[in-house]
Amino acid sequence: MSTIIEKIKDLKTKRNAVILAHNYQRGDVQDIADFAGDSLGLSQQAANTKADIIVFCGVHFMAETASILCPNKMILLPDENAGCPMANMITLKELKIKKSEHPNAKVVCYVNSTAAIKAESDICCTSSNAMKIVSSIPKEQEILFVPDKSLGGYVSSKLNRPMILWEGFCPTHHRILADHIIKLKAEHPNAKIVVHPECTPDVIALADHVASTTGIAKYCRETDAGEFIIGTETGILHRLKKENPQKVFYAITYLADCSNMKLINLEKVLWSLEDLVYQIKVPDDIAAKARIAIQKMLDLSQ
Ligand code: 13P
Ligand code: SF4
Repeated sequence: MSTIIEKIKDLKTKRNAVILAHNYQRGDVQDIADFAGDSLGLSQQAANTKADIIVFCGVHFMAETASILCPNKMILLPDENAGCPMANMITLKELKIKKSEHPNAKVVCYVNSTAAIKAESDICCTSSNAMKIVSSIPKEQEILFVPDKSLGGYVSSKLNRPMILWEGFCPTHHRILADHIIKLKAEHPNAKIVVHPECTPDVIALADHVASTTGIAKYCRETDAGEFIIGTETGILHRLKKENPQKVFYAITYLADCSNMKLINLEKVLWSLEDLVYQIKVPDDIAAKARIAIQKMLDLSQ
């Protein structure tokens, strides 16, 4: 009798499917994926794949982005309830009101947002290219940054550039506290502190390095230190430990667990390929508008 992993591999070949997984997915889901990475890497993979079907092991907005970039492919999200609370912190109606209050502002939209919000934005960004994207906009141009006030605030302070920030945030990253870091650092004084820009400013202020999930993996691989204090969703620890078996990683807190990311497991990946569920298809009119904002970001990110 074949194992679940063999069944997934077999069906993936039969259906000409590719499995993309975010760095926060369960370890065994990351391991079965053809590519595991951050939001930018995943959208680049989706844009370039020759597969007919993309099984997206991540959350809803990521599958939507794949659908926007590949309107003729079938995009499957193995659990339709895998949403992102931050993406749901801004509605189209609210964005339109804010835009009418700031009619000259360019809207920079973090990809952790719905397709409808992207369609109403000028350009997208991810945590790995936000600095570059904001810098590409002339200094005198007013910017409305949605929906993450933490990423927006981080970019704004690094570039010394005021922006209007939407009040959204990632509940998972906001459970990581500066006090946790101070305590861990006292126990492991040689450890480097590495955090995601979705963390709060007081957490970011304590970090040696701030980066997207793939940026965190790169820093831990390339830095000489033997110990790291990690401030992001705990799923990343699987990859960090696998890539650096000789190094030690401490999660700042195991409360930084995104229950939405963890909804997907191997069984659901198999069912997804068997029954072709759950199909994510962004309506053509919204996708056409959102694609402009995403493509501008991809063009600046090569
Ligand atoms: P990145 O992997 O792009 O850093 O994104 C983090 C995140 O919160 C995805 O939901
Ligand atoms: Fe959304 Fe935060 Fe979960 Fe990422 S980690 S999917 S931003 S809630």
